[in-house]
Formats: sequence, structure tokens, C-alpha cells
Amino acid sequence: MSSDPSFEVNVEGLRRAVELLDRRSYSEWPRYGLPKSLPDTGLGEVEALERLAPDVLGRATYLDAGDAIAHMDPPTPWITWALALWNTRLNQNLLHPATAPFAREAEACIVEWLAPFFGMNGGHMTPGSSVANLTALWAARDLRGVKKVVASSASHLSVRKAARIVGLDYVEAGVNQRHQLDPATLPSDLSDACLVLTAGTTSVGAVDPLDCCGLAAWTHIDAAWAGPLALSDRHRSTLSGVDQADSVAVSAHKWLFQPKESALVMFRDTEAAHSTISFGGAYLAAPNIGVQGSHGAAGTLLLATLLAWGREGLAARIEHCMDNARRLQDFIASHPDLELFPDGGTGVIVFRPACHSIDEFRAALPQGLASSANIDGDTWLRCVSANPNADIERIIAAIDDIAGARRL
Ligand SMILES: Cc1ncc(COP(=O)(O)O)c(C=O)c1O
Repeated sequence: MSSDPSFEVNVEGLRRAVELLDRRSYSEWPRYGLPKSLPDTGLGEVEALERLAPDVLGRATYLDAGDAIAHMDPPTPWITWALALWNTRLNQNLLHPATAPFAREAEACIVEWLAPFFGMNGGHMTPGSSVANLTALWAARDLRGVKKVVASSASHLSVRKAARIVGLDYVEAGVNQRHQLDPATLPSDLSDACLVLTAGTTSVGAVDPLDCCGLAAWTHIDAAWAGPLALSDRHRSTLSGVDQADSVAVSAHKWLFQPKESALVMFRDTEAAHSTISFGGAYLAAPNIGVQGSHGAAGTLLLATLLAWGREGLAARIEHCMDNARRLQDFIASHPDLELFPDGGTGVIVFRPACHSIDEFRAALPQGLASSANIDGDTWLRCVSANPNADIERIIAAIDDIAGARRL
């Protein structure tokens, strides 16, 4: 049988795919939506791309838009789009060194670069911080024999989920008014506990007192959101104490501007942790470390980003996001009709109109400008400064317009 061109490099088809990234190229086209059933006859690749563009690309929220600041999801730099294309073409499996010799080295290299910023000596990539948290609790249970997980009521649901999966009791500690874990509410005996501290809580971006590291048999820091601040000379102190943890989770698909799914779990003693969570098998040339079996080369995207920007370029983008957050907070704090939730110091801005319906207020804002957060039973609005291209003056003007209109 002759070679199947669907598996070959089709420069024209791929060029068409790139052209379609420009929204003007399909803005006049109809949207076909989804066929009711699996078609018997295929359209061919280029036709399929053209059919899909108005829906896949046209019905998406663009995270680099000027007013996109609602979620912990950043836009991605174009160099990651290019590497994603290369990765898909190769479909490497990092489980097998033979299929992915360089990609395995690349992942090890970026973990080696990043772990010291958190006082850790290694680790591995995971598809997200939910899996990173799960992996850390698994290591804590098998290495230190912990029996329970202690975390604040503001910790991410993945911590509870992970405790359930690894069969550990879950004990909830209280928080103060800023939503940081209140050490006075910790159980008196933590000798059989894994204490999970959060650096950048999901709702308000609060950082737990990291000086609680060492109180328990194992301390894990869930730095899914705020971890990348460790790369900034200006903001590193926000994570002061992180180096005393036993393990740290960081989502690269948040403030390291990576496409999903990309995160890291890092350990203070990686050799011990990895040997505890590794399985060998007759068909494996290298042990399978961690939760995932087959997994792809997400590390090459992060490597490309770090090579392209360097630490300073990455830090500059995070610092710009932090400056935007400060500007928005200052505006809200000084607005007579808006109430600002105490700043967590990690670029999450939580506020509410003083005397109007949150739902109405949010509905009047441009879509993608704010999400909602439930805090102690009350609904607040939340902006997350994850978008370096956010037009903060436009965002302020939009909020001001609505707040002003409500005042009239
Ligand atoms: C503090 C925190 N931890 C963990 C997670 C889960 O991370 P992921 O969505 O990467 O699995 C999130 C997600 O928003 C988070 O905010």
C-alpha cells in the first residue's frame, strides 16, 4: 500500500490552519455546529478545518483579549503553539525513553531549573495541580506513614479529593478574615498528619502562613497559582518559607503561561519520594514515576518558553500582571460604591458593589472580565490578573461605568 498522506507533513494544510487563526478569515462564514451523527464519508482535512474554524475558533473566549481577566487561565505565548504542533506530530510517550529521548531530558532539565526556586531538589511534571497534590499526598502517606490530611477551609477541592483517593482522613482547619489558614485552629497533634498550605487560594489568592512548614510529619504547599512569583525578585518574598516544605505543587498552565495540561510536583528529597511512588514493569525500560502512565512532552513547551524569555522575561510578565492587579485594587478601594476584599498579594482581586445585585452587575460587565466567588456564603466578583495583555484602564472604565450608572 502506498503511503497515507494524512500522516505526512502537509505544508499547505498546516499553513491554512495557521491562516485560520486570524478571525477575519472566517468571520463571514456560516457556523455548522456539530453533525447529529458520525458521518460515514469524511470531508477531507482542509474542508474539515474550514468547517470547524467558525465554531472551534469563533465560539471561544480569548484569554488575551483586553478585558479578559476573569479566571486563573492565562493566554499562551505563540511559541507554545508551535511546540504543541511539533509534539502532536511526534506523539512521544515519556514513559518510554526510546520514543522520547530528548523530551525526557527536557522535562528533567526544566524541573532541575525550577525546583531550586522553591527549595526543592527535583520532581516531575503532572497534567495539573490536582494530580500534583494527589502525588504529594501519596508520597507523604507511603514515606512518612501519615494518617490524615489537614488543610484550611479555603484550600482547593483537589486536596479533599486527593485525601479521599489515598484513603486519608481529611481535617479542615479554619481561616482568618483574609482567608489564610489560622494556626490556632490546627489539631494539637500533627505527628501523623500531612499539612497542606496554600500559596494563592483559588477564591481570593491568599497565602497561608508558610512558617507552619515543619509542624506536621509532612508539609505540602499547594502553590498552583502563586508559585511562579518565586521567579520574580520583586515578589519572591510572598513565598518566603516555601523552601521548608516537603513537597510543592505549581501549575505551569496558570502563571507560567503554558497551555493545559502542564504542572509540576516537586520534592525536597526527590530520590526518596520518587522511589516511593515508582512502579517498574517487565515492559518498561525505566520505572513509571507518579500517577500518570503514558504522558506527552508538555515539558518541551515550557522549555521553549523559558529559553525564549529567560527568567527575567517570565518575571517581567508576572510583575506586569501584578502591577495591573495593584492598579485595579487601588481603583476599587477608592471607589465609594465598591467594596474590596482584603488583598491576598497574589494578583487576585475580589470585590462587590456595595448595594446592588452582584448578578446584575456582573451581567452588565463585558464577558470574561469577572468571575464570581462564593466567600463564606456571600457572592463576590473576582478578577485574576493572569493576562499580560489586559487593558487595565479599559477594565477600570467598564467597572466604573456600571458602578456609576448604579449610583444614579
Ligand atoms: C489553589 C489551587 N490548587 C489546585 C488547583 C487545581 O489545579 P489544576 O486545575 O491544575 O488541576 C487549583 C485550580 O484552580 C487551585 O487554584
